[in-house]
Amino acid sequence: PEYISVSNLGDALGVKLNVFLRQLEDLGFEDITEESIMTGETAALVAQEYGFEPTVDSGEKVDLKPRPPPEDPSVLPPRPPVVTIMGHVDHGKTTLLDYLRKSSVAASEHGGITQHIGAFSVKLSAGKQITFLDTPGHAAFLSMRQRGANVTDIVILVVAADDSVKPQTIEALKHARAAKVPIIVAINKVDKEEARVDLVKSDLAKNGVEIEDYGGDVQTVLVSGRTGQGMQDLEESILSLSEVLDLRAEEDGMAEGWVLESSVKSIGRAATVLVKRGTLRRGDYIVAGEVFAKIRVMLSEGGVELEEAPPGTPVEILGWRDLPDAGDQVLQAPDEDKAKNAIDYRRELSERGEAVSQMAQQELERRERE
Ligand code: GTP
Ligand code: MG
Repeated sequence: PEYISVSNLGDALGVKLNVFLRQLEDLGFEDITEESIMTGETAALVAQEYGFEPTVDSGEKVDLKPRPPPEDPSVLPPRPPVVTIMGHVDHGKTTLLDYLRKSSVAASEHGGITQHIGAFSVKLSAGKQITFLDTPGHAAFLSMRQRGANVTDIVILVVAADDSVKPQTIEALKHARAAKVPIIVAINKVDKEEARVDLVKSDLAKNGVEIEDYGGDVQTVLVSGRTGQGMQDLEESILSLSEVLDLRAEEDGMAEGWVLESSVKSIGRAATVLVKRGTLRRGDYIVAGEVFAKIRVMLSEGGVELEEAPPGTPVEILGWRDLPDAGDQVLQAPDEDKAKNAIDYRRELSERGEAVSQMAQQELERRERE
């Protein structure tokens, strides 16, 4: 149980101490001084006399919650766009990603071994940066979407110039529309003789993609993942679209993000986290699902140890007590106690949920037997 001193309770109720002491005596308390201690329950009864509806905090477990959305996002610092590449089988998604990834690893000074952590950042001139997600595990994405998280700001729809719009192109379009994520079309394999760029454009228009050539606002960029042709144009298109989207996030306050993937590696339990708000630092406590970490090490995809991960940064985090799941939301906790507390709360909740569904199941089975 919690305790409170009379003087603190008086403060909390906004009553002057000498008045409060007199009133407490009127209520039947004896030998009361400002240093007297009350149990939470007694204090709650007293508070009720003053018209409060108190809830007793008996050291109960509390969950961590994301911060409310910012009041005025337009005053926040800009953050890098997060981009996902989608498209039909064999149209060149991996080739494009690999090309971008190589340029990102080559650009990183220490240039360690590429780790393939499910996301990477490309640094461009003028301090600009683009974060690319690997075509992500379907389950993780679905789980994030179900919780209202659009991890991606922009979808690059890859269409091979020699094959044009195909079923999975249309599928990807549906996904992007459902998530209300704007697209840029990368018409790939333009180095090939069989490339039919005009056919691709008219097929896109037929499928309701309002491309610029037809008076719409969807950019199309001609690229080749093989020769690297047009890749700079693609990066520029992404930057100009993200300027329109005006992507911003808080760099301070409790950090928030998402687990993109997780696995046990030789270096220990590792999870790739995409930071969305706030900045993660070594030593911080974070909670994901029903597990927590004290961040021991943060690595970039190039294997470089990072001290800080601001919004839009993907990092591999070590220091987990258990392995979190891809698709889990990551929330920073102010300290270890709060992190553990949140986890206890969540575990209790899911145990209770399991107990209820077990009871329901038993009830169903009982009825079936009857
Ligand atoms: P899935 O992951 O199977 O859906 O395929 P993907 O979209 O990742 O395609 P991937 O990058 O594996 O490329 C498929 C084939 O097309 C490979 O043989 C690539 O070498 C080839 N390819 C990709 N991009 C280009 C390009 O720009 N030009 C040419 N000529 N070939 C390309
Ligand atoms: Mg691929």
